[in-house]
Amino acid sequence: MKRLEGKVAIITGAADGIGCAIATAMANEGAFVMVADIQDDLGAKTVEKICKSGGKASYLHCDVSSNQDVSDLVETTVANHGKIDILVNNAAIAIGGMPIFEMTTDQWDKLISVNLSSVFYGCKAVLPHMIAARSGVIINMASAQAHAPLDGWAAYAGAKGAILSMTRQMAVEFGPHNIRVNSISPGTINTPMVEQVVAEAGSHLTETWVKMHPIGRIGQPEEVAEAAVYLASDLAGFTTGLDLRVDGALTCAPRYVPEMFAPDQN
Ligand SMILES: NC(=O)c1ccc[n+]([C@@H]2O[C@H](COP(=O)([O-])OP(=O)(O)OC[C@H]3O[C@@H](n4cnc5c(N)ncnc54)[C@H](O)[C@@H]3O)[C@@H](O)[C@H]2O)c1
Repeated sequence: MKRLEGKVAIITGAADGIGCAIATAMANEGAFVMVADIQDDLGAKTVEKICKSGGKASYLHCDVSSNQDVSDLVETTVANHGKIDILVNNAAIAIGGMPIFEMTTDQWDKLISVNLSSVFYGCKAVLPHMIAARSGVIINMASAQAHAPLDGWAAYAGAKGAILSMTRQMAVEFGPHNIRVNSISPGTINTPMVEQVVAEAGSHLTETWVKMHPIGRIGQPEEVAEAAVYLASDLAGFTTGLDLRVDGALTCAPRYVPEMFAPDQN
């Protein structure tokens, strides 16, 4: 029996990167996955790939910084599939690499709305359905950044730190309704987000990142996806309020690298 057979899952930011890997892995394990993103062409491709390999998936355009979009996403999923078992609040953007006093208020507002308000909107929309069903799993994507500081990323870390606190709070509050809430804190993972940060900050970053992970490499999206599948499955039935670090021991041995965002030396 597949680990998520019969489950209905929503994954935000699932057109690319970690979200795409989670959608693919959950579909492989038998779940119907609702792929939500703002990159419509890429989202449709993800769905096509999943369906071609025998999985079940649909795409819906959803900007997670819009409460209306997220509410529509959840209501459409429930209307079409009768329930919502799993929500993965994954979508986020990387704005950083500068001292916080250089960040504009527009950048701050954008970061908080996409990376943090989105988690509020998602939980707000699914919890009434999950409470009525007396069952549900929420997985919030946090970051190693919430545990181990890096110069230039205070705002991003603030949003991810808030997600850790919200996750613990909701695990306690909604545990009595048989709803589990966990987070995942990835280390550096090979995705378009990381490619974007390297493009902005310089190629020296790639080597530094590898050195920062005691395991000697950065991670792959599929390695985060496997953690999400586990947390979503009934095998993790007693696991709630956890932050699962998928980070090659990065946060066990944080190495402060002050020159990290210095101009490219190469
Ligand atoms: N890649 C890493 O090294 C890393 C490390 C720690 C945490 N994370 C977290 O993992 C999650 C996924 O990151 P990733 O590296 O796959 O990012 P990514 O940029 O590669 O992919 C993010 C996806 O989210 C979508 N997205 C962006 N803004 C959106 C919006 N407003 N509404 C809906 N979708 C939107 C993008 O279109 C894209 O498909 C994020 O929460 C990120 O903060 C990533």
